[in-house]
Amino acid sequence: MILKAQNIKMEFERKRKDTNILEVLNEFNLEVPEGKLLLIMGESGKGKTTILNIISGLLNPTEGNVFLDETDIYSLNDKELSKLRSENFGMVPQGQTLLRSLNVLDNILLPIKLYRNPSDDDIKRAKDLIDEMGITDLIDVMPSEMSGGELRRAAIARALINNPKILFADEPTSDLDSKNRNMIIDIFKAQRDKGVSVVMVTHDDSLKDIADILINLNEEA
Ligand SMILES: Nc1ncnc2c1ncn2[C@@H]1O[C@H](COP(=O)(O)OP(=O)(O)OP(=O)(O)O)[C@@H](O)[C@H]1O
Ligand SMILES: [Mg+2]
Repeated sequence: MILKAQNIKMEFERKRKDTNILEVLNEFNLEVPEGKLLLIMGESGKGKTTILNIISGLLNPTEGNVFLDETDIYSLNDKELSKLRSENFGMVPQGQTLLRSLNVLDNILLPIKLYRNPSDDDIKRAKDLIDEMGITDLIDVMPSEMSGGELRRAAIARALINNPKILFADEPTSDLDSKNRNMIIDIFKAQRDKGVSVVMVTHDDSLKDIADILINLNEEA
């Protein structure tokens, strides 16, 4: 599946003395081809999270369109868009986003539980992902008892539970030591090699070598 963002403008209303409008993106275009790792680099405040939210169906831009193949995703109603998102997209959000009241297995099954009771197959898939992420021993552990790298790997498993065609990740290596950082990068590369399109945003210059396609927001005006 091909994801395209066309002529995106994003303005936020923000109370300031001189102006009430903050323009974060203007004439922004992006194409995410199948099975590639696309890296969007930019300093803090350049709009990386905003871009991920727009192209993953969470934030309707002020102007412009986002197409998944032929579908203009913001022309869908809420229910249709949620269905498209859960069938095609996985998201690893910025920061720690596991629910503190659920253990690792239940956190990973959460995207399924929003729609139905997990089947035996769903639970098996969750356990396989837990193994793949190298956190087998943590299956029934609560997030408060886990390290930053472990939390990040559990969040990736949660993003993968519905077999997404496109995996979005917002600063997935921030606050990690180099060992954990490499582990996370290897996980994303392995997904890419399985044919999943990966869209990652980061302010970390040292990640640029892992990209199949690099978009540098710092170079734009
Ligand atoms: N809902 C909002 N309302 C008003 N301003 C916003 C909103 N969301 C983001 N912004 C502003 O838009 C700009 C871009 O924000 P964004 O979160 O996309 O940056 P970022 O590149 O992800 O930064 P970081 O690296 O710190 O995560 C910032 O100046 C931010 O303050
Ligand atoms: Mg951000």
